[in-house]
Amino acid sequence: MDFWKVLVVDGDSGSHAATAHALNRLVYRNRGVVIFEALNPSDARAVVSVHPDIAAVLVGFGRGEENAGRELIRWLRREKRNETAQILVLADGPVTEAEEILTLEYEIADYVPRAECTPGRIRTSLVSALRTYAALMTSQEQHEDLRRISEASALVFRNSGISEFERTALASIASFLHGPGNADRYFGVFATRSPDEVVPRITTATGSFRHLEGQKLSQMLNSPLYERVLSHNYAKGHLSLGKLRVYGFRIRDGSEVYLILEDEVELSDWNRDLLEGFRLQLGVALDNFHLFRGIESARDDLVFALGEMAESRSEETWNHVKRVAEIAHIMAQGMGMGEFETEQLRLAASLHDLGKLSIPEGILAKEGRLSGDEFESMKSHSLVGFEMLNTSNRSLFRTAAQIALEHHENWDGTGYPRGLKGEEINLYSRIVTVADVFDALGNRRAYKKPWNTSDILDFMRRETGRKFDPKVMEVFFERFEELNQVRLRFPD
Ligand SMILES: [Fe+2]
Ligand SMILES: [Fe+2]
Repeated sequence: MDFWKVLVVDGDSGSHAATAHALNRLVYRNRGVVIFEALNPSDARAVVSVHPDIAAVLVGFGRGEENAGRELIRWLRREKRNETAQILVLADGPVTEAEEILTLEYEIADYVPRAECTPGRIRTSLVSALRTYAALMTSQEQHEDLRRISEASALVFRNSGISEFERTALASIASFLHGPGNADRYFGVFATRSPDEVVPRITTATGSFRHLEGQKLSQMLNSPLYERVLSHNYAKGHLSLGKLRVYGFRIRDGSEVYLILEDEVELSDWNRDLLEGFRLQLGVALDNFHLFRGIESARDDLVFALGEMAESRSEETWNHVKRVAEIAHIMAQGMGMGEFETEQLRLAASLHDLGKLSIPEGILAKEGRLSGDEFESMKSHSLVGFEMLNTSNRSLFRTAAQIALEHHENWDGTGYPRGLKGEEINLYSRIVTVADVFDALGNRRAYKKPWNTSDILDFMRRETGRKFDPKVMEVFFERFEELNQVRLRFPD
C-alpha cells in the first residue's frame, strides 16, 4: 500500500499525539497516511529534504513562536521551491491580518484554530489538502508525459534513414511507457512486408529480440499468434496478445508495417490517449518514409543507369560502377561518416566517369597505350563530367560533380586536371580514387589483364602517400576483406 506523507511540525509534543490520534487509520484513495514528526523548524527542514514528496505539512507553533512557523513556510515555498506540499496552519487565536497575507503569498491551504482542533476537523482539513495535492501531482505527471511524448515525436521525425527512424521510435515508446532509463529492458519490433514480399520481415528489433533482425516475423511468433497478427483489422485498434501489444499500419505503397511492443504496464486513459496520438503520427511518418524510399530507389536506379551508360562505352563492365559505389560506401563508413553522407557518396561515386560519354569510342576501347593526344582527350572526361553534373544545385549532384572532377587527382599533386595536393582534394574524391583504382586493377580492361590480390595489395601499399591519402588507406587495409567481397558480389 502506498502512503501519503504528512509532516507535523509543532513545538508541543502533546499536539503531535493528538494529530497522530486524529489521523490514525485514515485512508484516502486507497492510501494510508504516514506521519513524520518534527519539534522544531530545523528537524522539519531535514524531513522535507529527504522526502520531497511530502503531501501535507501541519504547522503549529505556540504564542511567540509564530515567526519560526512563518520562516519555515517561506523556506519551503521560496528556497525549496516546493509548490505541491499542502500547508495547514494550527492557529492559536483568530487569524490575523499578517496571516491572511501569508495565506495568499504562500498558498496556505487552511488555518485550523487550536480551539476547534477536534480529530474530525483535522481529518476533514487534511483530506481536502490531500485532494489538492493529488490533483497537482496528476497534472504534473501529465505535463511530464506530454513533454516526453512530444520529445519522442521530435526525435523520431528528425532522423533520416528508415532503420534509424524505427530504432528511435522504439526507444522513444519504451521510454514513454516504462520511464527513461528502463527502455533497454523492454523489447520492441518493427516488421515490414513490402509489396514485393510474401511475408513480413523484422526490420528493427530491440531488447531480447534484437537477434531476430532480418528474420521472418514467423520466426518470432508461433503460428496461431502469427496468424492473428496478420489477420487482425488494425483500423479498429491495436491487438493485445497476452504480453504483446501489436499495431498495424497500411502504407500507401502497399506495404504493411507491424509494430510489436512488450506490454506489461497498465495504461491510464490519459496515457492511452497520448500513445494513440503518437501512433497516428507514426503512421503518417511511416507512410512518408516508404513513399520517399520508393522515390529514392527509383532515383538510385536512374543514377546508376547513367553511370553505367558512361562506363559501358569503354570496355569496362557495367558492374564496375556498382563496385566502386559499394567500395566507396564501405570506406566512408569506416571513416566514421554519417548515414546521409555515406549514402550520398555511394550514389555520387557511381557517376565518377560520366564525362566518358564525350570521349570517342576509338580512344575508350583502344587496346594498348594511348598516344599523347589521345591521353589528353581521355583526361578531359573529368572536366566534362564536372560540367555535366554541376548544372544541378542538389547536393547529390554537386558532390558527384566534385568527384568527377577530382577522381584522378593524386595525394602528392601529380594527378589531373588541376594537380591538387593532399587535403585540397575533397575527401569524397580521395575515397573514390582509391575505390576506382582498386577495382580497376582487379578486373580486365582494354589495356590490361586482371591483377592477382597480392600484386594489388603491393601496388596499393606502394602508392599510399603518393597516389592515395594515407588516412583513407588505413581504412582500406582495415576493411580489405570486406572490400574484396564486393568484387565477388558484383562480378563482371
Ligand atoms: Fe575516370
Ligand atoms: Fe572508373
